[in-house]
Amino acid sequence: MKKIMLVFGTRPEAIKMAPLVKEFQKHPETFDTVVCVTGQHRQMLDQVLDIFDIKPDYDLNIMQAGQDLFDVTARVIIGMRDVLDEAKPDIVLVHGDTTTSTAAALAAFYRQIPVGHVEAGLRTHNIYSPWPEEMNRQLTGRIASHHFAPTPLSRQNLLDEGVAKERITVTGNTVIDALYWVVDKIKNTPRLADELKAELRKAGYDTDRLSKGRKLVLITGHRRENFGDGFISMCKAIKTLTEKYPDTDFVYPMHLNPNVRRPIHDVFGEDLSNLGNMFFIEPLEYLSFVFLMEKAHIVLTDSGGIQEEAPGLGKPVLVMRDTTERPEALEAGTVRLVGTDYDRIVNEVSSLIDNPDHYNQMSQAINPYGDGQACERIVSKLG
Ligand code: UD1
Ligand code: UDP
Repeated sequence: MKKIMLVFGTRPEAIKMAPLVKEFQKHPETFDTVVCVTGQHRQMLDQVLDIFDIKPDYDLNIMQAGQDLFDVTARVIIGMRDVLDEAKPDIVLVHGDTTTSTAAALAAFYRQIPVGHVEAGLRTHNIYSPWPEEMNRQLTGRIASHHFAPTPLSRQNLLDEGVAKERITVTGNTVIDALYWVVDKIKNTPRLADELKAELRKAGYDTDRLSKGRKLVLITGHRRENFGDGFISMCKAIKTLTEKYPDTDFVYPMHLNPNVRRPIHDVFGEDLSNLGNMFFIEPLEYLSFVFLMEKAHIVLTDSGGIQEEAPGLGKPVLVMRDTTERPEALEAGTVRLVGTDYDRIVNEVSSLIDNPDHYNQMSQAINPYGDGQACERIVSKLG
């Protein structure tokens, strides 16, 4: 029997690790599956745990309002010491590039416990973009003994850094496993679509507006390197677009980080209700978010995970960043980098709304990030 500990703490890690937890739990004769959450995100993590019905064995509960990188790193490392000593796992699995992942990997290394890195090998090669994620994933890659690379390109990045080929497994990204699970659930659960509609209406957006031929631009933003001027410029561009396109709805489920909310208020005012075709709403549960993404015409985001999900749903993605560690969809033409420049955002969104040829080119459904069986591959590699 192998004791596997999965450690995660933020919303995207939870979405991408949840199907893996479920897959390990299908094999109780081979694996003792232990889940440790750091609670780096409290509310946004708990939303995901509820949806996938995961009850963590350990919860470090580290989140503090306005935490910085020092707080998160120190609290995860100290918290993991006791958890590792009590649980004594044979292997620790971490995900991606958050500070939870790197600090948990370092803690496991301090106890000489091997680390498996899920979503390994993504690189921009610019340590300040995205910051601190690029350095986080490089460091985690140095610590890890097993690298689960989502694509051949991420495998190549690891080979270029001298990682031995027998330590790398190309698996696809577990986000596609999660996405397919949700899409199937929405399709096959009677009345679920109606419930999600009702949930969205309660959150502040009525999807019936779209039945009248209106289009939807779905927006998210949270990157640290965009804090300050970048966010102000993004918000100004969005404001201009809402005025230019009164027949299009702009829906922005806001991340809970206060650094993201401040510039929204600076540009749109203190009262974010009744802004016509602009809807600022609270972060959505994963099911509602995917439901809304399926209805979107365009996705405007700086998120990592959404860059992987939206192309699978055939949605053009404009990425408000200067670099991406996910060039596969960029090469396929369904994702485009627009940075945080005001003119660029206004022009690129306008072109997708006004120019059907451009829209059709960018909206073919492609899925370079996986086939929905990444978790099975990871489990069979470790079995
Ligand atoms: C973190 C990750 C980032 C990931 C992002 C996904 C790091 C350094 N950053 O950034 O890689 O892309 O999550 O969303 O690991 N907050 C709440 N409730 C929540 C979540 C956040 O109130 O459920 C607020 C708190 O005030 C918290 C702040 O947001 O202090 C920042 O959270 P933090 O995890 O430090 O940074 P993120 O920007 O969320
Ligand atoms: N997401 C969600 N609710 C929201 C916004 C996003 O469930 O209101 C999901 C989204 O589908 C994706 C993940 O959260 O799977 C992305 O998280 P985020 O953008 O916070 O982090 P990143 O992927 O950039 O690290």
